[in-house]
Amino acid sequence: MLVRLVYASRAARAIDDGFIMGICDVASSRNASKGITGVLVTQQGQELFLQVLEGSRTDVNSLYASIVRDARHRDVTLLSYEDIEQRRFANWRMGMVDLKRIHLGTILRYSDRAVLEPYAMTGKAALALVEELVASGAITPREER
Ligand SMILES: Cc1cc2nc3c(=O)[nH]c(=O)nc-3n(C[C@H](O)[C@H](O)[C@H](O)COP(=O)(O)O)c2cc1C
Repeated sequence: MLVRLVYASRAARAIDDGFIMGICDVASSRNASKGITGVLVTQQGQELFLQVLEGSRTDVNSLYASIVRDARHRDVTLLSYEDIEQRRFANWRMGMVDLKRIHLGTILRYSDRAVLEPYAMTGKAALALVEELVASGAITPREER
């Protein structure tokens, strides 16, 4: 039984490559061992995270509980949680995108400004944005970095 969860949060400090790698190194190996897939979207300068997680309900719920307790970010806000028939991010045990590096037009399609504003987005729009980033090739699978 699979679920998909989408949340937003604010980084506790300025996001830089080291900060992101510290999260992703652990996340990708743990996610692989639990069969969790997903994508982490950041925007350096905005200090925001938008993450999609897919996997078994038990594992996704338990990971989300850990994520909520993680002091590296705050204001963790659930945007969407649903049972799913199939994964949309099956190829990404933790795909990453830093929105500074892509065409900002994609974000603009989902927000009133060309900055990531997950707190102002519906869960559906947040998921659609991540899907479009994946479709446009903006996401880097962790193992290829
Ligand atoms: C923005 C963000 C995203 C994270 N994503 C994941 C993830 O996808 N998988 C994972 O295992 N840990 C992730 N973590 C780390 C978890 O919060 C937590 O530190 C880790 O799962 C260990 O949990 P535990 O100390 O409860 O065992 C993330 C942390 C942050 C701040």
